[in-house]
Amino acid sequence: MPKLKVIFDTDPGIDDAMALLLLARHPRVELLGITTVFGNAEIDVVSRNALHLVQRFRLAVPVARGAAGPLVGEAGPPPTFVHGTNGLGDIPLPPVQGNLDPRPAHRLIIDLVYADPGAITIIAVGRMTNLALALAEAPDIVDKVARVVVMGGAFGHHRHTGNVSPVAEANIWGDPHAADIVFGADWPVTIVPLDVSQETQMSDRYLADLAEVAGDDGRFVRDVSAYYQEFHRQSAGMDGFYVHDSSAVAYALHPEFYRTETGAIRVATDGIAAGQTIIKPDSKRFPPGPWDGRPSQTICTEVNAAAVLDLYRRTLLGHGN
Ligand code: BDR
Ligand code: CA
Repeated sequence: MPKLKVIFDTDPGIDDAMALLLLARHPRVELLGITTVFGNAEIDVVSRNALHLVQRFRLAVPVARGAAGPLVGEAGPPPTFVHGTNGLGDIPLPPVQGNLDPRPAHRLIIDLVYADPGAITIIAVGRMTNLALALAEAPDIVDKVARVVVMGGAFGHHRHTGNVSPVAEANIWGDPHAADIVFGADWPVTIVPLDVSQETQMSDRYLADLAEVAGDDGRFVRDVSAYYQEFHRQSAGMDGFYVHDSSAVAYALHPEFYRTETGAIRVATDGIAAGQTIIKPDSKRFPPGPWDGRPSQTICTEVNAAAVLDLYRRTLLGHGN
């Protein structure tokens, strides 16, 4: 099987760290670069976290600092109640070694894509600001990217409609203008929304087992996610938590774990529905409207959650495929 060449655009972030670990340990992944974006914490904090994770996971890839705020307006306060003050569940972090790439994130994306046209999958699990900036600076990258896989949005399958408002998911809500640009660009996008990420849950038992059998990596997952577990327990009465960002990696590696639908996608950019993602399915006809002329993109609607959980566990045990 050919390698999956990946740029990881991220706001680490507890579940971002877990997704990066999956990328780091999967034998079929060739990680080319990490780009950071504000979101789960401020940009300096998520960039520091990315450098820390690169060191911890023994990765040799550039890390470039990205956008500090959305295309329009200001960033809201970071969700410390979900990811902790340090963005990584308040686990102790040693002083950071290593330096950021001198380029801004969107420039690193452009340079990597130009250097390997047609080969790279961008996995974006934060606000899509860096991707929108890359498209503005080099619109021709749309023809040079193999696929963009986005964790974000919500389309109402299994009644999953939003996690920061009744209709909006955090990554889209945090920069709805950027998301609307990325989904409207003429490159292949697959969205891995709450519809499937909230159907995939790591239970307390699953995490305890991982800590037991998967060495340092398993213990890291248990430790970094304790804060996240507590947030899910208090906010949703859950035993465990939703698997958001690792689901985007799982799709990139194993699209057959997911059922999908295609159509043009718009994002509501203001008003009470700001951040809502709305698909006009290719299978339906409507009178002329704001979806016309937009490319058909793909959304995940169903997931084999057991297969995703098994992939994560197997990969940390050194048996990923
Ligand atoms: C998304 O928002 C962030 O908190 C997570 O890292 C994930 O990317 C889930 O809505
Ligand atoms: Ca994220």
